[in-house]
Amino acid sequence: MTETASTRSSTPADAAARRERTGGDVRLAGISKTYGSFTAVHPLDLAIPAGSFFALLGASGCGKTTTLRMIAGLEDPTAGTVELAGRDVTALPPYKRPVNTVFQNYALFPHLDVYENVAFGLRRRGIRSVKKQVEEMLELVQLGGMARRKPHQLSGGQQQRVAVARALINHPQVLLLDEPLGALDLKLRRQMQLELKRIQTEVGITFVHVTHDQEEAMTMADTVAVMNGGRVEQLGAPADLYENPATTFVANFLGTSNLIEAEIAEVAGGELLLRAGDAKLRLPAERCRTAPRTGGRILAGIRPEKVSLVHADDAAAVADGRNRITGRIMDASFIGVSTQYVVDSPAAGQLAVYEQNIERDPRLAPGAEVVLHWNPAHTFGLDAAQAIDAGTERVSDTERVSGTEPAEEVA
Ligand SMILES: Nc1ncnc2c1ncn2[C@@H]1O[C@H](COP(=O)(O)OP(=O)(O)OP(=O)(O)O)[C@@H](O)[C@H]1O
Ligand SMILES: [Mg+2]
Repeated sequence: MTETASTRSSTPADAAARRERTGGDVRLAGISKTYGSFTAVHPLDLAIPAGSFFALLGASGCGKTTTLRMIAGLEDPTAGTVELAGRDVTALPPYKRPVNTVFQNYALFPHLDVYENVAFGLRRRGIRSVKKQVEEMLELVQLGGMARRKPHQLSGGQQQRVAVARALINHPQVLLLDEPLGALDLKLRRQMQLELKRIQTEVGITFVHVTHDQEEAMTMADTVAVMNGGRVEQLGAPADLYENPATTFVANFLGTSNLIEAEIAEVAGGELLLRAGDAKLRLPAERCRTAPRTGGRILAGIRPEKVSLVHADDAAAVADGRNRITGRIMDASFIGVSTQYVVDSPAAGQLAVYEQNIERDPRLAPGAEVVLHWNPAHTFGLDAAQAIDAGTERVSDTERVSGTEPAEEVA
């Protein structure tokens, strides 16, 4: 598979030129959807550039499918407009929009073989000589040898590729994918993620991909929009979202974050000095998502893999200028590439630490007293008025029926 992908790969200039020709941009302006008194999607503005691979990421019920269906024309927006490739399509039915959708359950025709499934869109439009196009498509999704098989004779991943080929043969400018890999097991999912990414680069069409799997979104997309409760909380390149989360929801939903409740002791020279229990932490002012005020509260965030762990006996070896917190190991899970520790600290509660598995210190076992330390530049600061655990549950806030959600969000 990799071999074919590399032999077929083209220069960035080729790819850029193709994008100009084939992809359409998507512009949503103030688009919203309400069902009775329940707002599934709050007024949303979104500009997705032509030829990009865009992911809508969020927990179940946050409004991803609703947004996608409004782009496809399968759902009427309550307000706002949808523009595709520079044309307002808000009033157009789905079949008049330059889009195709791939759904989670693929919905292949069981009685038609792979070839006829892929040819279907062309035949329906009355095109008789389909051979060349179908063969090209089958080649693109690497199913050339399986043209005469029926869907039930294919693996899940192969069926998924038929579904993609069947949508792409209509030459949409935008391909919408709603959890297309949801039915696949983890290993196949990972494989298909790379496969879909390769196909997208090759055809240059705009992909809008909906998923609740943060790793999937980060693997595939150039831009990820993190949705929560019918709103986009943050939008950006995967690495940027991960390194610079703007809210506790994004910090917790995208990977894992340690969020430490702290008091701002001083704001000096582009840096904040924080106090959390007996620990003093430093935070660069430019990594702060809230206007800092001496005496105010803040959440200091640090990703688990940015933290190092030493036994308390070696505390003197920790370099000056590092942020440090003492604690006791509660749990250590060896997972091959790394060991994941849970450390309980008086200053910050439970903290996660991921140590790459290079040389393991046998003293770092549950019960051991340790020092956690990290480069202050890796710390980020979030508004302490937010729920510290937002995004830790994999269900959207609007779905919760506890007393914690905003009243207007309850269905
Ligand atoms: N026809 C409808 N009537 C009332 N509420 C609806 C309707 N369709 C969707 N909803 C609600 O709108 C919200 C958003 O639904 P949507 O299908 O967009 O979520 P999603 O993000 O795609 O979730 P999932 O990951 O579970 O597919 C949900 O709370 C859902 O219950
Ligand atoms: Mg959905």
